[in-house]
Amino acid sequence: MSKFWSPLVNDLVPYVPGEQPKMANLVKLNTNENPFGPSPKVIEAIQAELNDGLRLYPDPEGESLRQTIAAYHKVKPEQIFLGNGSDEVLAHIFFGLFQHGEPILFPDITYSFYPVYCGLYNIESTKVPLTESFEINPDDFKQPNGGVIFPNPNAPTGRYLELQYVEEILAANPDRVVVVDEAYIDFGGESAITLVDKYPNLLVSQTLSKARSLAGLRVGFAVGHPDLIEALNRVKNSFNSYPLDRLALAGAKAAYEDEAWFRKCCDGVISERERVTTALEDLGFEVLPSRANFIFARHKDQPGEVLAKGLREQGIIVRHFNKPRISEFLRITIGTVEQNDALIAGLESL
Ligand SMILES: Cc1ncc(COP(=O)(O)O)c(C=O)c1O
Repeated sequence: MSKFWSPLVNDLVPYVPGEQPKMANLVKLNTNENPFGPSPKVIEAIQAELNDGLRLYPDPEGESLRQTIAAYHKVKPEQIFLGNGSDEVLAHIFFGLFQHGEPILFPDITYSFYPVYCGLYNIESTKVPLTESFEINPDDFKQPNGGVIFPNPNAPTGRYLELQYVEEILAANPDRVVVVDEAYIDFGGESAITLVDKYPNLLVSQTLSKARSLAGLRVGFAVGHPDLIEALNRVKNSFNSYPLDRLALAGAKAAYEDEAWFRKCCDGVISERERVTTALEDLGFEVLPSRANFIFARHKDQPGEVLAKGLREQGIIVRHFNKPRISEFLRITIGTVEQNDALIAGLESL
């Protein structure tokens, strides 16, 4: 605290990102990055941008990338909004598309940035409890609200909500924006982007940080009705007109142009997810059914905190949340075959 801080800053409760360790050789399974590197075509595209053109500002609208993403998802470019990671897209959504006078709804166990944005923008919220089996019950989202947001698959549970139930939530809230945060959708779910022309209140956000292995490039986007996109552009152009630099625009476009690489990475993660799940079940864990690139698991007798510490001592880092209902769980990112073998051996020894 300092006398120079505004009272607003004083009251902020910032998000705490998962550790990015400085030590080499750690088995890093704590922040849901992709264990496989980006496509070589992405690296080539970024290298091709390393020239005198860097003295010029990038395209503020990211027109070329929006066209690529729109064609990929069979929507129009004016239905796409780009941001510096989906976190920035989400921040603009909270500011520009939720009704600040009424509580917005999100699950009690979910992405921990949502309450942070509420604090930043002074938005009321109601935490909607997940069921006993950590599922979203669509009926619970049929109450007055200033907007709705949930990840699908949810984080950190990994549980997926079938599209018919997403539609139920959309249909029950025709006068409010419903945001489906699809950071992990490519690891086995069906995207709600196919519904954006049917529901003008639907906004889907996605990221290139996970399935496209580009967490370091910071690219995310939202897809929805052009009216929703226009609101986001108004916020963006009141904050930072150039959220994506030239390297990010070029790399992200190349990532969409290498479908074979993308499929190979997703399939690799999915098959490893199934293998790790079975191995952990054999060790006495309950593993929630996951459609993400991580699993959420608790052991029948070993506390999550003890296991996380024990793994850390062996150079393996996973995420443990000391929060109500989930303090017994570990969230474990799916790694390479070798990393997952190290995890399984580490848990065996504990
Ligand atoms: C549910 C969810 N949404 C959004 C994000 C943000 O992703 P990024 O800002 O890297 O696009 C994350 C990151 O872990 C996440 O778990």
